[in-house]
Amino acid sequence: MEHVAPEGLIIDNREDGLFRVNRQAFRSPEILTLERERVFEKCWIYAGHESEVLQPGDFCSRRVAGRPVILARGSDGQVRVLLNTCTHRGSLVCREHSGNAKTFQCPYHAWTFNNCGELVGVPGEDAYSEAFNRKELALGMPPRMESYRGFVFISFNPTIESLLDYLAGAKEFLDLICDQSEDGMEIVHGTQVYSIRANWKLLVENSIDGYHGLPTHQRYMAFLAEIGGIDPSTVSRLRGEAKDLGNGHSVIEYEPPWGRPIARWAPYFGEAKKAELEATQKKIEARFGAEWAYRVTQMSCNLQIFPNLIVNDIMAVTVRTFFPVSPDHMEVTAWALAPKEESPENRALRLDNFLTFLGPGGFATPDDVEMLESCQKGFLNREVMWSDISRGMKRAKPATTDELQIRTFWRRWHDLITLTPARAEAQRAA
Ligand code: FES
Ligand SMILES: [Fe+2]
Repeated sequence: MEHVAPEGLIIDNREDGLFRVNRQAFRSPEILTLERERVFEKCWIYAGHESEVLQPGDFCSRRVAGRPVILARGSDGQVRVLLNTCTHRGSLVCREHSGNAKTFQCPYHAWTFNNCGELVGVPGEDAYSEAFNRKELALGMPPRMESYRGFVFISFNPTIESLLDYLAGAKEFLDLICDQSEDGMEIVHGTQVYSIRANWKLLVENSIDGYHGLPTHQRYMAFLAEIGGIDPSTVSRLRGEAKDLGNGHSVIEYEPPWGRPIARWAPYFGEAKKAELEATQKKIEARFGAEWAYRVTQMSCNLQIFPNLIVNDIMAVTVRTFFPVSPDHMEVTAWALAPKEESPENRALRLDNFLTFLGPGGFATPDDVEMLESCQKGFLNREVMWSDISRGMKRAKPATTDELQIRTFWRRWHDLITLTPARAEAQRAA
């Protein structure tokens, strides 16, 4: 097996404008071990959205950063993330994907926990000594959990900065996305789950990559042109900008060629929708002023929150997270996010848009999956050691088809992956 040192996996030559990533980063099991320790255990990781557990007792079970957890709203109304492992001898206590429950009963020896995580039932409890303490045996919780505008994050790093500080410039874009709604945004019921035979970082790159839009998604662009009114040539020059948002987060924000069911009309929405979308536009302008409202309704953004959350507000909004199973395999979970007060008709329009482009059976995602798997296959040629990510490096104002947003991810990744425990300790002391 090739031995890989994390230092030197990146060439970042700002003077000459060259940026390269060593392809070992995509195929090395040693690097994946370091990523688990130094990235996924150290950062804030997206766990779910408060709207998924609206009522007391609602729960969803899922894997977050590779661990089985339960996102649950307790009977006390509070949202928690519980570690899905029985404090008796280990079994998962919740094996349903979602539902509403007062308790979780472990299937192994039937210990019972309430939806706040407390141990409330132990068959044959009289067999235990005085030292047996139910309180101590509540379900575990990650050391940190915080949320911002409904987005719930957890961290296994007890000393991490607050979520708000961590989000840095990404907060502005979560605000832009959430300001589409007066009542708040909600996750639409239903989850897309798929997997890709490729390294997880290829999906980070792809999700914020404006350069691949036209060549990879020709079919979708042709479809938009055919159903009405989109000039495919506009797609190659998406007017907008790529931005480094701090802490490894990045975004491309641009004026899209497609319609947006919030308030950007396109011919394929039908004439009847025009007046209504204009009225929504006016309403949002009245709340926030013309400039912010324009960005909320008319602009699209692909937002990358380090390390593995993507919120793409394109024709619909997708919330996408993923985690590596092995260096060449990832599991992906995605949801649609929408304004709570949206009419059923507009919701249908949104979901049609969502499935057509973003769904794993749509016009775009299968093409992306194919390209990512194709890159991973290409990486078998070890003689070709580097991937080039230098586009726009010497440009003062990087475009959406440049690669600044991708370099932003990689720079942070490299900082963390090379952060030995000793260096981390020294940084804390300073
Ligand atoms: S492992 Fe859960 S009750 Fe025994
Ligand atoms: Fe794509």
